[in-house]
Order: sequence, then structure tokens, then C-alpha cells
Amino acid sequence: MQQTTCSSLMQGLRPKQFVAVFDFGAQYGQLIARRVRDLHVYSEIVPCDISAVELASMHPSAIILSGGPASVYAKDAPSMDPHVFELGIPVFGFCYGQQIMAATLGGAVGHTEKGEYGPAELKRAGSSLVFGDTPDHQKVWMSHRDSVSCVPQGFSVTSSTDTCPIASMECAAKKLYATQFHPEVRHTQYGQKLLSNFLFKVCDLEPSWTMDNIVEEKIAQIRARVGDKKVILALSGGVDSSVVAALVHRAIGKQLTCVFVNHGLLRKGEPELVEEVFRKQFDVDLVHVHAEERYAKLLEGVSEPEEKRKRIGTEFWKVFFEQAQKIGDVQFLAQGTIYPDIIESGARKTGGKASTIKSHHNLIPFPEGIHFDLIEPLDHFFKDEVRELGLALGLPEKMVYRQPFPGPGLAIRIIGSVTLEKLEQLRSADAIVREELDAYNEQLYKQTGERNSQHACWQYFAVLPDIKSVGVMGDERTYQRPVILRAVESSDAMTADWAKLPYDVLSRISSRIVDEVAGINRVVYDITPKPPATIEWE
Ligand code: XMP
Repeated sequence: MQQTTCSSLMQGLRPKQFVAVFDFGAQYGQLIARRVRDLHVYSEIVPCDISAVELASMHPSAIILSGGPASVYAKDAPSMDPHVFELGIPVFGFCYGQQIMAATLGGAVGHTEKGEYGPAELKRAGSSLVFGDTPDHQKVWMSHRDSVSCVPQGFSVTSSTDTCPIASMECAAKKLYATQFHPEVRHTQYGQKLLSNFLFKVCDLEPSWTMDNIVEEKIAQIRARVGDKKVILALSGGVDSSVVAALVHRAIGKQLTCVFVNHGLLRKGEPELVEEVFRKQFDVDLVHVHAEERYAKLLEGVSEPEEKRKRIGTEFWKVFFEQAQKIGDVQFLAQGTIYPDIIESGARKTGGKASTIKSHHNLIPFPEGIHFDLIEPLDHFFKDEVRELGLALGLPEKMVYRQPFPGPGLAIRIIGSVTLEKLEQLRSADAIVREELDAYNEQLYKQTGERNSQHACWQYFAVLPDIKSVGVMGDERTYQRPVILRAVESSDAMTADWAKLPYDVLSRISSRIVDEVAGINRVVYDITPKPPATIEWE
């Protein structure tokens, strides 16, 4: 194996047209980047204090300044290089973005008597390219205490609300626009229209960031980078690694080898699905490593969850590198790192402000003397974009819309020590839970026409605790394990609520598990939200 350093594929390979989103406060930037991408223009978050010189070297077509929780005159308020406004690139500022634009260019920002939070009625003043033909009165979403009290020279006021006389401002000659309200939130009636006017009317961009173009572009990039070298990939059956596998395979075919380490901790049907899709459908060079026994030994008598995670993770890479060595002469390792992974590590590094980082530390424990060049073609995609890409590449829906599943698999859904017998019980119970709740979700979909309607279950599974209880079956007294049903509504796993499942669904799950899974005599439902609980039990 060659010894080389890691580097990211994306560096320097942005699409020609891209919007740089300055993030002045964690989640604001992410949402804006999403909204821009929804309009088929590529966007990326940059640290708000990036220098004008560095920014210019990235050649953005437009800049958006996000909102943020700080006050522009506060001591530790996030700041930006004032020279950014001299680059001749169109700028659109939202909320804090409007305030920092005003403060930097010679206007003034002050405290309004009352803060303004929530919906507000906006009155337009005069014509404006970003407002375009939207109505004179419109609903917008405000969230601010400070606001611009005096616009910089050359700017005009383009709208107001009862409590905010300068709700938006612009200097059309310099293509500088700003709003005190948040166009990126859904509650702003014409928010997306304003954004689209800015991108297409002010900046003259093309809505060309579509999945088909992306696939073509990514394939060309991967081919150019890999040349005739070999690539290896750890395929888990999860969404991200599956999409990377499909993409890299489309680009370089048999130069890619996918290693699927079957640790025996997957759910029912998952190893078979990997075989079916990648070996049969895609004709990928797939190495299926049967490590079930090896893992069972490794986990014998281990109850502590972190110790389980550690052993499973370390062993995974050991098995993987053994395979890599067997293949020999592999230069590249393809990985399913996605954008939120990068933003998260960036946000941690910059003490809360979200930002991209150029190269992130890969957490793979490379053995002494072994390194690969990393290929991370999804490193600028959000999760739902990864799913869309997966569908465009021909992956089946059940793989693309797979629920989140922990890397350590069923091992952390068995409380206490893991045995092959318990794994089999949990796998069977879990399959019943998924079958019934898949059907329940499908029924909701038919009723509401929404894939993720409010009461659809987002994640659902079975947990096997380390206790036994008394039951009675026929004339026999039993002393067996219970199964815990966990089903939650959520959108991002940060918070979750237990799903308010109909009694008949709960009842069917309970009787099927007790009837069909040997060794289980009771089913209980976890009715705790997150917080205070977590979604998983370990
Ligand atoms: P918690 O239990 O913290 O889980 O509420 C939040 C989300 O993360 C998943 N999860 C994991 N994923 N390795 C993973 O890859 C893990 O060790 C792990 N633990 C939890 C969990 O399924 C949920 O979606």
C-alpha cells in the first residue's frame, strides 16, 4: 500500500457558479444554503471572518450574509472583512447581515424600543429588483432587537413594518441588498421569491445545479483524480456509503472494490440487500467478509456500551485493512462523509460559529505506515441531497430511505452482554416492528400525501433489555425476556417525541412478537421524549 497524505476531492472543484453564505451564527447559514440549493444553485457556507482575498480566490458568484444572535456593536460580535463589499460581487444580507452591512458601510444600527419576534406585516416602498412583482403588503418573519437606524450613503429604504422603519434597504448600483426579516424561513410569505429574484435577476445566475448535472460533474472529477489507480470503500449498507459506492462505481467501474464487513449486528435482510443491489444489480467488485463469529467472540461478556462501541469500531478497521492489504496497491479510500459532518467539526473548531474547514481529520485509525488519499464526493451534500443522488444513480428506495441505524448496530440495542441467541431474538422482533410500522407509515402517506407527515414514525426499532419477567403461555409459567418498542417522531434526531401510535397497531406488534419470537413473553412501549431520554437505549 502506498503511503500518501489525505486530501479532499472537493477542494478547488466547486461548480462554476456558487453562492458563498457567510455564517454569523450556527444554524442560520445551513438553512440559507439549503434554500439556495433548492433553487438549483450551488451554495457553500464560509467562515464569516474569511478575508476578502481568500474569498475572491474562490470566485463566488454571489454572497449572502446570514442572521446571527449577536448585536453588531457587542464586544465579541462576529465580524467580517469590510473589503468583501469592494469585490464587486452582489451581496444579500439577512437580519444580522443587514445590520453588519449598514454598520460596515457607514450607516448606523440602534436598539429599537421593542424587539420584534414572529410574524409582521411588511409595507414595500418603491421598486426593487429583489422584491420584483411581489405585493405591496406581505407577511414576513422577524426576530431582532437591534435594527438599522440610518442607511449608508447611496442606499434607499425598500420596505418597513410598524416597529421597524428600515425593514429592507439596497444600493442597486453596487448590487448590495439587505432585509431585517428572514427570507429563508417558510413563514416569510415571499422569502423564496426574493431569494430567487436575487439569484436570477440581480446576479444573473443559471439554475443549473441539478442532480443529472451533479452526477456528470462528480463522475468527471472522480475519473480525473483517480486515473488508473485502485479505490477501496467500506460498504456498510447505510445510505452514505451506498451512494458513494454507486457513484464511484459509475465513474471507474472495476477499479473500485467495496468491502462489506458483515459483523452479524445488522438487521434482518440487510446483508442480502447489499448483495442483491451491489453484486447482482450493479456488478460491483464486492468482498463480503463474514466476520459474524469473530465479532461474537469479541463481544462475549462485554456489557459496557462504550466498550462495545470501541471494540466494534476497532475490529471493523482491522478487518477492513486486512482486506485492503489482500487487494494490494490501493491508492484511494472512498468515504461517505457528508456536509453536516464537516460543518459540525468546523463549528466545534470555531467555537460555535458554523464554518467549513478545508480538510478535516479523518477518524480512521490507519495502521502504522498506511495511508490512503481520501475521496469524499458527498462532502458538500446535505442528507436529503444524498438521497436524491442515490435515486438518480438507481439505488432502490428502501436503501435510500433507510432509517438511521447506529454503526455498532444491534449490539447497542441489546442491553448487557451480546450473544448470538439474543441477536437472533432481537433481529426477529425488530423485523416485526419494522414490518408493522412501515405499513403504518405507508397508510399515513396514502391518507396525507406526505412522506413525512407530522405523525409518521421517523425511527422505530426493538430493544432487548437484560431482565426476565414472569408470564404464562397456555398452562405453562414462563420466565423470559421482554422486548422494548421504541418509535419516535423527529426530523433530525436532536429532539424526538414518542410516536402516538394507534392501539390496534401497538396491539398487533405486541401479539406478533410474543407469538413469533421464541423466548419473549412481554412487549413494553417506551413513552419518553428526547430530552430527557435519548432515542437509543445505550
Ligand atoms: P440518541 O440515542 O443519541 O441518537 O438520541 C441520535 C441518533 O443517532 C443514532 N445513534 C448512533 N449512530 N453510532 C451511530 O452511527 C452510534 O453509536 C449511535 N448512537 C446513536 C440513533 O440511532 C439516532 O438516530
